[in-house]
Amino acid sequence: MIIALTGTPGTGKTSISKVLAENGFETIDLNKIAQEQGFIIGRDEKRDTNIVDIEKLEDFIKNNYSSKNIVFVEGHLSHLLKCADKIIILRCHPRMLRSNLSIKNWKEEKIRENFEAEILDVILCEALEVHSEEKILEIDVTNKNVYDAASLIIDLTKKGFKNREKYKIGNIDWSEEILKDF
Ligand SMILES: Nc1ncnc2c1ncn2[C@@H]1O[C@H](COP(=O)(O)OP(=O)(O)OP(=O)(O)O)[C@@H](O)[C@H]1O
Ligand SMILES: [Mg+2]
Repeated sequence: MIIALTGTPGTGKTSISKVLAENGFETIDLNKIAQEQGFIIGRDEKRDTNIVDIEKLEDFIKNNYSSKNIVFVEGHLSHLLKCADKIIILRCHPRMLRSNLSIKNWKEEKIRENFEAEILDVILCEALEVHSEEKILEIDVTNKNVYDAASLIIDLTKKGFKNREKYKIGNIDWSEEILKDF
């Protein structure tokens, strides 16, 4: 089973994946694979981001990981993988996201772009273009440390996502925050 762990940059995908790995789960870093396998086909200078050949990435993940029992595929593009069986979107209050991205020393322009993307549910909208609603979960990690967030993901996984009711899509709405960031 391939579980995509996605979310706006700064929501904690890498940090939480490290805890999942410490707990014995196989985790893979999708950005690293794209780089190592030569799937980066250009650079979007305006957005200061790499352009990835998502079809090649899809084939690689499908061929190498789809027979695994459980593997977490971590990265802000992982929800675009059609071969993913479950999509976990990490959500984070825009104020906390701003703080997380500041720790990473991101430029104000990039912080602003991601702040807006989180408020506008960009990742969720993209995920819904590829996957059915039932495959997608949203977890608000704002008031959770990385260990609590990882424990919750482990619990959901071990129970075969049968206890996912609370994490159904559409419960998270940061829309009022867009007016506050001046
Ligand atoms: N739940 C949390 N509580 C407090 N701080 C957090 C939490 N999750 C992440 N952070 C902090 O926020 C910063 C960004 O986290 P991280 O790099 O894991 O995000 P990411 O989603 O992997 O981002 P990217 O898409 O850029 O790789 C890190 O400094 C991390 O320590
Ligand atoms: Mg990361």
